[in-house]
Amino acid sequence: MIDSETFRSVLGRFASGVTIVTARDDAGTDHGMTVSAFCSLSLEPPMVLVCIDHAASMHELLLQHPRFGVSILSSEQEGFSRRFATEDAERFDGIAYSRGECGVVLLNEAVAHLECEVSQHHDAGDHTIFLARVERAEPREGGRPLLYYRGGYAQLER
Ligand SMILES: Cc1cc2nc3c(=O)[nH]c(=O)nc-3n(C[C@H](O)[C@H](O)[C@H](O)COP(=O)(O)O)c2cc1C
Repeated sequence: MIDSETFRSVLGRFASGVTIVTARDDAGTDHGMTVSAFCSLSLEPPMVLVCIDHAASMHELLLQHPRFGVSILSSEQEGFSRRFATEDAERFDGIAYSRGECGVVLLNEAVAHLECEVSQHHDAGDHTIFLARVERAEPREGGRPLLYYRGGYAQLER
């Protein structure tokens, strides 16, 4: 049986990008959280997946409201990654964003935006895997991605 420290240490060696996943509740209030467990899934049809902790407030929201936005953070947006993972933070205060066609927040200066709709979800351990169709996707030219590696932030050198 693998202990959780070793598990974290091993999986932390898999470098990833960082995203902010956003959705809206019934009252039209915006919610967002930092997610690195984001993955390309299918080209035809275009699909992605995100893995969300059962304990995260976004978990219940995505079960009820299948539309969500993904902002892939740029290297200048490390602060957003921290803020959207901090409890009680006023996550959208003072942040520049636009809205996607389905109304979700898309953060300005992200390296890319996606608008997605959950098509399936599967319970897996303490997370749920949300599989989603990509309805819209837009890259920003020139942006450099924020990376997450071994519990810290990094940037590409090239
Ligand atoms: C770099 C980074 C990546 C994260 N990736 C995920 C993730 O993929 N899935 C997840 O459920 N939580 C992830 N988290 C943790 C959530 O962002 C954090 O628990 C957040 O506060 C949950 O939202 P809530 O406070 O509204 O419940 C990550 C945090 C950081 C800093």
